[in-house]
Amino acid sequence: MRGAARKSVRVQIPPWAHRKMVKIRRFSISDLEKVMEIEKVSFPKPWPKSYFKKLYKKYPDDFIVVEISNKIIGYILGYKKSDGTGSIKTIAVDPSFRHQGVGKELVNFTLNKLRGKEVKEVFLHTRTKNTAASLFYKNLGFKILKTIKNYYPNGDDAYSMKLTLHFNSSLRSSI
Ligand SMILES: CC(C)(COP(=O)(O)OP(=O)(O)OC[C@H]1O[C@@H](n2cnc3c(N)ncnc32)[C@H](O)[C@@H]1OP(=O)(O)O)[C@@H](O)C(=O)NCCC(=O)NCCS
Repeated sequence: MRGAARKSVRVQIPPWAHRKMVKIRRFSISDLEKVMEIEKVSFPKPWPKSYFKKLYKKYPDDFIVVEISNKIIGYILGYKKSDGTGSIKTIAVDPSFRHQGVGKELVNFTLNKLRGKEVKEVFLHTRTKNTAASLFYKNLGFKILKTIKNYYPNGDDAYSMKLTLHFNSSLRSSI
């Protein structure tokens, strides 16, 4: 505004913004303890270590972690299924790093990998009661296809969600 004194505004830069310290890479078995810590505070029925090991064995290239200053702050597992569609099996971000775009970055990373594998549609399930997750996925363009009653072992209902991938040749994952 003309004539108004320019106020200095203090902008808090989230740790996530320091891109040099942030690394997205493949999971390795030495990350398991930290992944388990995040898993336990993120889900009502955490998966056991043995299940993560099994998933890692099956999808070694698709199990991805994000680290900041060598500390794991989130993970995602998303892969191409035998029918050619993509699936996001799980994602979680350390609670103290949420709402800073980390989850979005992980999903976009995986979606770019899937684009590279010519995947056109990506599906996932999330608890209907997990409002944060369904809003998170909606924000990324996923649409609710249907509600599946008693989908989870504890009787929770799930939303089945779908994203149609659009292709942009400049977007390619480096992993
Ligand atoms: C869901 C989860 C991965 C999101 O991670 P995140 O790093 O906090 O998400 P982002 O900061 O990238 O959020 C991106 C967008 O999602 C939406 N969103 C994320 N968390 C939200 C919340 N709690 N409530 C409403 N909207 C939310 C927002 O629109 C946000 O965009 P904005 O920041 O511009 O408003 C994280 O909350 C989490 O780990 N939850 C526990 C595990 C889980 O539920 N996983 C998903 C089911 S498999």
